[in-house]
Amino acid sequence: MFRNILLNILLISALPALVVGINVESAYAQNKLVIHADLGKVTIDKNIYGHFSEHLGRCVYEGYWVGEDSSIPNTRGIRNDVVDALKQIKVPVLRWPGGCFADEYHWKDGIGPREDRPSMINTNWGGVTENNHFGTHEFLDLCEQLGCEPFITGNVGSGTVQELSEWVEYVNFDGVSPMADLRRENGREEPWRVKFWGVGNENWGCGGSMQSSFYADVYRRFQTYVRNYPGARTFKIACGPYGGDIKWMETMMKNVERGQMQGIDLHYYCGSGRDSKSATQFKEIDWFHQLRRAMEIDAIITKQSNIMDKYDRQKRVALIVGEWGAWHNVEPGTNEGFLYQQNSLRDAMVAGVSLNIMNQHCDRVRMGNIAQTVNVLQAMILTDGPKMILTPSYHVFDLYKVHQDAKLLPTNLDCKDYRFDDNEIPGLNVSASRDDSDKIHVSICNLNPNDDAKLACEIRGAKTRRMSGQILTAAAITSHNTFDNPEVVKPSDFDGYRKTKNGFEATLPAKSIVVFEIE
Ligand code: AHR
Repeated sequence: MFRNILLNILLISALPALVVGINVESAYAQNKLVIHADLGKVTIDKNIYGHFSEHLGRCVYEGYWVGEDSSIPNTRGIRNDVVDALKQIKVPVLRWPGGCFADEYHWKDGIGPREDRPSMINTNWGGVTENNHFGTHEFLDLCEQLGCEPFITGNVGSGTVQELSEWVEYVNFDGVSPMADLRRENGREEPWRVKFWGVGNENWGCGGSMQSSFYADVYRRFQTYVRNYPGARTFKIACGPYGGDIKWMETMMKNVERGQMQGIDLHYYCGSGRDSKSATQFKEIDWFHQLRRAMEIDAIITKQSNIMDKYDRQKRVALIVGEWGAWHNVEPGTNEGFLYQQNSLRDAMVAGVSLNIMNQHCDRVRMGNIAQTVNVLQAMILTDGPKMILTPSYHVFDLYKVHQDAKLLPTNLDCKDYRFDDNEIPGLNVSASRDDSDKIHVSICNLNPNDDAKLACEIRGAKTRRMSGQILTAAAITSHNTFDNPEVVKPSDFDGYRKTKNGFEATLPAKSIVVFEIE
């Protein structure tokens, strides 16, 4: 009797928990994530969080370079507000001077006293006159101010082997030589010891319209003269394919010997919406279409990596995603050739998804360079004279910087689809890493702009003692920051989660990017 009463009491007291347990389980079970916290082996190279800045529109001029006499606060001509903002997101590497501009650029026109530098026409980008005031010294000064690695792309399309070879000597040689002496005459004693050298840009297109077999030979020739000077070992990066073009990749991997190429530079832009190409005036169909195209980078990287694996099973050659991002119509009233576009919550989602995917491929992808840092394409920063605003994409790079050089943690995600009309894409997108101090970071994008997502996460191989979260979302899919309203889209603390015995449960708001820190 007493035993039965006790049993009933136990059962009755356990009932609410069981009921809650069942409800919780069923509600959160719609999306399940398992993080293998003890199985992280491969490092997410911090250079995946790299950037690309070209002599294009107002990226270099106005974006970085205002000149020493400008009323905009600057250090040796480079604006301080932009440098400070970029230091905050820990830019690890910066690719320059192009882009298509690289294969028309003659570096010797960009050294020496500024008033003596010859000008040129920037035929690719608006036909404007380039005065060459921002050249090698200014770029490398910018990188030193940012504390990042430079990545210089040489001119193969319209340049010579000698020109590229002398550029490397000028920048990297410490001894006595014509180019090292010229550098000293121009005020720089120490070489910069630049590691990353691109041998041409998009040489299948604006960089010389070459066929893959021809470029493979040209590459072999040019790279021979990208010398390793003492203390300045180079990392040579070949022009890679666009998107899923496997013929280019196959030809390069087959015809270029391993020691001749440390990286190959894949480009992929995920375009804009379907019905509207405007950066800020679009509907859900455009949001869906854009995100679907952004997610295609996963299949593209897999396809290109498979080709690389055939020739390089040890993954010695790095896949560099040297240009990526969204490409919308220019802002009304601006020069078509300047590629100045606004940046909305949709762009933030493109960045969040793309970075998660590159993290997941970090065994092969060892650098990424979003196009382009300031005032061009999917920019981090927009400027208007002395004013500067941070874009939603900037905030994603800020939130995700915790993944830089951390160990990728394997994840299994089982999630609901986000359906639009008759199409669907996965509703969630994720990556997780563990840093040197054993903190786990999980970045999760909820692509669905209408529905919150309940997520149950199990963390295997680690305990959840402390946890915090940050979220980036906004009222509308089109929300964006303007010079009048610069903080419409910005991160805030997130508390829509609770710890569980072996992980956590969270309700991820519609159209949001959440980054958790777990100790
Ligand atoms: O980023 C703009 C342009 O896109 C680059 O100059 C070129 O490499 C690519 O086609």
